[in-house]
Amino acid sequence: MKKIIVTGGTGYIGSHTCVELINSGFEVIIIDDLSNSTIEVLNGIKKITGIKPEFYKIDLANAKETFSCFNKIKNVSGIIHFAAYKAVGESVNFPLKYYKNNLNSLINIIENMQEKSFKNIIFSSSCTVYGQAEKLPVTEQSPIIKADSPYGNTKQISEEIIYDTIKSTEYLKAISLRYFNPIGAHESSEIGELPIGEPANLVPYITQTAVGIRKQLRIFGNDYNTPDGTAIRDYIHITDLAKAHIAALNRLLNKENKINYEVFNIGTGKGNSVLEVVKTFEKVTGIKLNYKIVNRRPGDIEKIWADTSHAEKELGFKTEKSLGDALLSAWNWEKKYRNIT
Ligand code: UFG
Repeated sequence: MKKIIVTGGTGYIGSHTCVELINSGFEVIIIDDLSNSTIEVLNGIKKITGIKPEFYKIDLANAKETFSCFNKIKNVSGIIHFAAYKAVGESVNFPLKYYKNNLNSLINIIENMQEKSFKNIIFSSSCTVYGQAEKLPVTEQSPIIKADSPYGNTKQISEEIIYDTIKSTEYLKAISLRYFNPIGAHESSEIGELPIGEPANLVPYITQTAVGIRKQLRIFGNDYNTPDGTAIRDYIHITDLAKAHIAALNRLLNKENKINYEVFNIGTGKGNSVLEVVKTFEKVTGIKLNYKIVNRRPGDIEKIWADTSHAEKELGFKTEKSLGDALLSAWNWEKKYRNIT
């Protein structure tokens, strides 16, 4: 069995990827500091797969802790690095918290990989690196523009750190996956998205409004240059996104990569407006959402969606699930989590 370290493995994207890894026959070792997730996620993974992954509670931004943890784990075939802070708004108020955590953890991981001769790393990047692109859909060649937030900047700098390190070594190989907007939950509803406090993202806000925890969903702006005036994103089902990691990992393990550092967009290729998301949620769940239109949210871009042809051709990756599937799975997860039948 090939051993894979998943940093941030108890988080939202990490936990769903652990499930797909285990189901694909990999041995999973999770490293997480539990700063934005709970240890119960391990039970969710076990309920789905029958296996509870080995777990280390480690602050990867701490060089000593990281070194002693990596010393305990032998014969690693690959690392999938999710562990990072991800709240865009918070990063504007606490930039150093973001630079310290997101960059130091990546540097510590790569240093340890070099020291231990671990070869393969998959990095969680984001479509945020494109900002508001002039031409849509965005391809991997679309220009990277100056990030709007320190969070976005940590993704850009991380990609550069990986690129420069790969150039300087012979054996290290990496793939960055630029995610579009992940939504939904595992079909079992045993794992899902668990925002702490008031959700910043659209879909958890919708499900929490539907369940009655939030009074009303605010739709941020209906005066964008889009067909219905609300902003457009490329929403990808979390299970589809998780599967993209298996494709990327296998590409490295099977030595199918063309160069030692590659980048792929991971989205559906389709843009949906906020109102379309709301209407689709209402349709698949039969619930009427209480919402109102308010001013634009500062820092939001108008529209983005992915050109997925590179991932399709090179990774053989194509999404399978619809927006409706994703929204229904998010709703089922919210209901199960809140013990609502
Ligand atoms: N929105 C609302 N009401 C809400 C929340 C969101 O109308 O209560 C709107 C936003 O204005 C935006 C869309 O829904 O138009 C999606 O917003 P999200 O906050 O769910 O997602 P973003 O596209 O803003 O951000 C996501 C990730 C970030 C990442 C970014 C780009 O959350 O981490 O994609 O990759 F940086």
